[in-house]
Amino acid sequence: MNRRPGPLAQPFEARAHKPGHRSEVNPYRDTIVDFGRELIPTERARERNGRWSEEFGRNAPITLELGVGNGSWLAEAARVHPNQDFIGLEIRYKRCVQAAEKLRDHASANGRVVRWSWFELTSLFAPGELGGLVIHHPDPWSSPSKAKHRLIRPEFLSEAAILVAAGGELRLKTDFLPHRDALLAGLPGTPWRLVGTSDDVLGSGAPWPDDIVTGYQNKFNRAGLPVYAAWLHR
Ligand SMILES: C[S@@+](CC[C@H](N)C(=O)[O-])C[C@H]1O[C@@H](n2cnc3c(N)ncnc32)[C@H](O)[C@@H]1O
Repeated sequence: MNRRPGPLAQPFEARAHKPGHRSEVNPYRDTIVDFGRELIPTERARERNGRWSEEFGRNAPITLELGVGNGSWLAEAARVHPNQDFIGLEIRYKRCVQAAEKLRDHASANGRVVRWSWFELTSLFAPGELGGLVIHHPDPWSSPSKAKHRLIRPEFLSEAAILVAAGGELRLKTDFLPHRDALLAGLPGTPWRLVGTSDDVLGSGAPWPDDIVTGYQNKFNRAGLPVYAAWLHR
């Protein structure tokens, strides 16, 4: 789990590698550096701000997934939507590599994983550069005293509206109802409008037509616990 940095925090690159992340301790740290096309290391990410279409060599809608986990959604989305491009952010070295390996296994030229924090989106994307934003099971930080570390805060939708072009979408699936409540509470005064919700994605379906089950979603499905969803357009 990643804490929300304070207002005086250094840029992500400066704090991305903690001393305990030495390559002897975490071999994935080195794997990231020269993995190949599918995985963009932290140090080479910011230069792509405003130039992501050059990265993919075309002008196609770009969907950003925040916190890809093992990358099962990202790789499958890239595979079934070859006319769109997909970028996944992930903070943990091993998960970055797992997700990039899945993209490589599918030979998907339209997917990238970036080791980057979801709290620093405007340093990675220009206004309107994204066609969509998807969020699957963000860490709950369920204790009220830790709520300040949650991804979905009151100002989140305004920030997201800067990055996602008019006509774009935002999809959320979560096992933690306060995340969806916070998203819906943040709607007034933003360019976002609610298209649909689900209180049980497994039982009643997702609000969108083409749901792809994520690694965490599978865990909640197997445990018989509900997964909540919300679909917004702007
Ligand atoms: C509960 S997991 C969900 C993974 C995946 N979305 C799924 O549904 O299977 C949350 C993921 O978000 C990542 N994460 C946490 N804080 C993050 C941050 N600040 N920036 C990017 N990823 C982050 C975690 O490392 C973890 O892989």
